Amino acid sequence: MSEPVQTPQTFPTRIFSGIQPSGGLTLGNYLGALKRFVEKQDEGIETIYCLVDMHAITVWQDPAKLRHATREAAAGFIAAGIDPARSVLFNQSQVTAHVELGWIFNCVARMGWMSRMTQFKDKAGKNSENVSLGLFAYPALMAADILAYKATHVPVGEDQKQHLELCRDIAIKFNKDFGVNYFPVVEPVIEGAATRVMSLRDGTSKMSKSDPSDQSRINLTDDADTISKKIRKAKTDAEPLPEHLDGLKDRPEAKNLVNIYAALAGHTPAQVIKDFAGAQFGTFKPALADLAVAKLSPITSEMTRLMKDPAEIDRILGEGAARADAIARPIVDEVYEIMGMIRSRHM
Ligand code: TYM
Repeated sequence: MSEPVQTPQTFPTRIFSGIQPSGGLTLGNYLGALKRFVEKQDEGIETIYCLVDMHAITVWQDPAKLRHATREAAAGFIAAGIDPARSVLFNQSQVTAHVELGWIFNCVARMGWMSRMTQFKDKAGKNSENVSLGLFAYPALMAADILAYKATHVPVGEDQKQHLELCRDIAIKFNKDFGVNYFPVVEPVIEGAATRVMSLRDGTSKMSKSDPSDQSRINLTDDADTISKKIRKAKTDAEPLPEHLDGLKDRPEAKNLVNIYAALAGHTPAQVIKDFAGAQFGTFKPALADLAVAKLSPITSEMTRLMKDPAEIDRILGEGAARADAIARPIVDEVYEIMGMIRSRHM
């Protein structure tokens, strides 16, 4: 008899996603992830969002900076429109189900699968003997983050696609190994005009908080003047914007700015090209700078306001963690049962 086909539809729709609170949030994080988290929440879907501090420590973090960055990222989420009453918002280390399931998944995932993770290869580079074991195991913890909630859909930027494929492989292998249909096979949700925001200095590399050049990125903490200057100084070519979208092929910097404009305005890149066909960057960049300031400045000022009351941010994260725990705890307990671990301790 053939096994039932598993599709996410057999599980109720639930969204989970996370962002590392290491360094500040960038425009890449905002357009590729956070802005879309808010849209999903506003569509009325159950949404669980996590500041993944256990992922951040796969490279050494200064404790005071990590604490600050976690609060600042939480402030960024709330300022961008995440409502802690409608979404579950918390930091990962407050919910132990993540690391428990993470260990179990270390035992499900195969070395060969992990060795193929391109992000590990990029991050470790020539230094792979010297990076933490956690950095290598990290995608298994990421799968645990998602499956501890039996989440079915995961909005992310394009760079996380391979990690989500691994999450699917882990769910399938667990289900097969134990003869159950316990974990959903998650659907990556990679959509919109800015699934891969590129550096402002180099249209072929991703905008990232770890880029040594601050000019390469827009930070959610940048003030209006800084945002505007960074966009006006962004690298471009000498050609005007094309008449059609295909004209952006082989023009990575121009394409990046068009995509950023589209994502900020809520338009498609084709619409932006229609509006700016033939425009020089001398016209397009100031328009983009104005749009970016109009969209990002209110978020930045709200973040600054929220950061004046760190105790309130901690309270929100604590409350979110309790709600997250209430969902994840029974799921992970059932995993122990499925695997044959004795659970006789009186709670
Ligand atoms: P992280 O912290 O590197 O990035 C958080 C989210 O932002 C997206 N992103 C981008 N999108 C478009 N353009 C960019 N330049 C850009 N830079 C970052 C990422 O794709 C991501 O969606 N491993 C994850 C965090 C994580 C997670 C999870 C995500 C841990 N557990 C479970 C989803 C589900 C990471 O390091 O993302």
